[in-house]
Amino acid sequence: MTTIKPHGGQLVSRYKPNASLQGIKNEIELDDTALSDLELIGTGAYSPLVGFLNENDYQSVVQHLTLENGVPWSIPITLPVNHDIAKKVEVGELVKLVSKGTVYGTLFIESIYEPDKKEEARCVYLTEDDEHPGVKKVYERPAVYVGGTITLIERSNKGQFKKYHFDPAETRSYFKSKGWETVVGFQTRNPVHRAHEYIQKTALETVDGLFLNPLVGETKSDDIPAEIRMESYEVLLGNYYPSERVHLGVFPAAMRYAGPREAVFHAIVRKNFGCSHFIVGRDHAGVGNYYGTYDAQKIFSMFTKEELGITPVFFEHSFYCEKCESMATAKTCPHDKDHHVILSGTKVRSLLRKGEPLPETFSRPEVVEVLIKGMSNQSIKA
Ligand code: ADX
Repeated sequence: MTTIKPHGGQLVSRYKPNASLQGIKNEIELDDTALSDLELIGTGAYSPLVGFLNENDYQSVVQHLTLENGVPWSIPITLPVNHDIAKKVEVGELVKLVSKGTVYGTLFIESIYEPDKKEEARCVYLTEDDEHPGVKKVYERPAVYVGGTITLIERSNKGQFKKYHFDPAETRSYFKSKGWETVVGFQTRNPVHRAHEYIQKTALETVDGLFLNPLVGETKSDDIPAEIRMESYEVLLGNYYPSERVHLGVFPAAMRYAGPREAVFHAIVRKNFGCSHFIVGRDHAGVGNYYGTYDAQKIFSMFTKEELGITPVFFEHSFYCEKCESMATAKTCPHDKDHHVILSGTKVRSLLRKGEPLPETFSRPEVVEVLIKGMSNQSIKA
């Protein structure tokens, strides 16, 4: 049996725990996003990237959604530094990549450049508005980007969700051991509600396995924390999913909220983890009203099947219909929207914070119980 080829043809592996640090004089401090990106580059989740983008690749990604060599890539993976550091280091130099006193890797500097952040925001996020959490982050990070090949030396996040941390090589061999030829990947930054369950299971009807791959890196402060979500996934899988056909593993990247561009990025990364298919529903990776409901699906038409490799599986906005007495979408339900159970994310969070249950037609009671308990512990801690 054949597993899908990694993006660009080969799984990158830049993890060298014994790499020597001798003679390296300068260091660059990583923020949380860069730290998670370093690890994801090192383990091959971002194949074919072998480092943070140099200027040519960066310009190409921002303007054309491809690396300089034409391979599709939609989100700039960058290493921002302030002007003082930028003056201190030079092209051709090997530097340490550190976070809070620990050396996590090294970078061989190939390029030091000052990006036009407004242009990056316009092209990647389709807005310059600093109220957009992804754009805000781009603006807040330091002004100069340093690009080059990395070596990953130390793994981060080892304790948190340890049993659900898998490198692409591990998920690939797991899928193979299960005999899954086709695997659908599912990205989420939310608890799995009935709509998510519906689209996952509908997709699973046509493939061999489901890879539930929640993002657990940095998210905006009002998203439900990853620890609470992980517990909710466990109860959901334990009660309603066939364990033989589902694999739960975390995606430790930061959320960008870049809508369409991030959907392509999410798909490419899941291909590296060994998925042949990837679910894109309504307003994938969206926030507020910045993107149209199906923009994250339309963007896939920019690429040929061969260029992308992974097959996107699109779903319309799904909901429970009280007349149909089942989950449905506008494609399958003829009834008026008064019969549809649709709650906004804001409404859901507000009910949970107040300890009020969500309708069973919106979310499984076991999941709601975990969420209410988790959210009340959070407010006690706050
Ligand atoms: S995301 O930022 O990670 O995309 P979320 O966790 O809400 O947010 O969504 C995970 C996936 O489910 C995305 O592909 C999204 O488009 C899809 N999705 C979420 N809710 C629905 C829904 N009601 N109907 C159809 N697709 C949905």
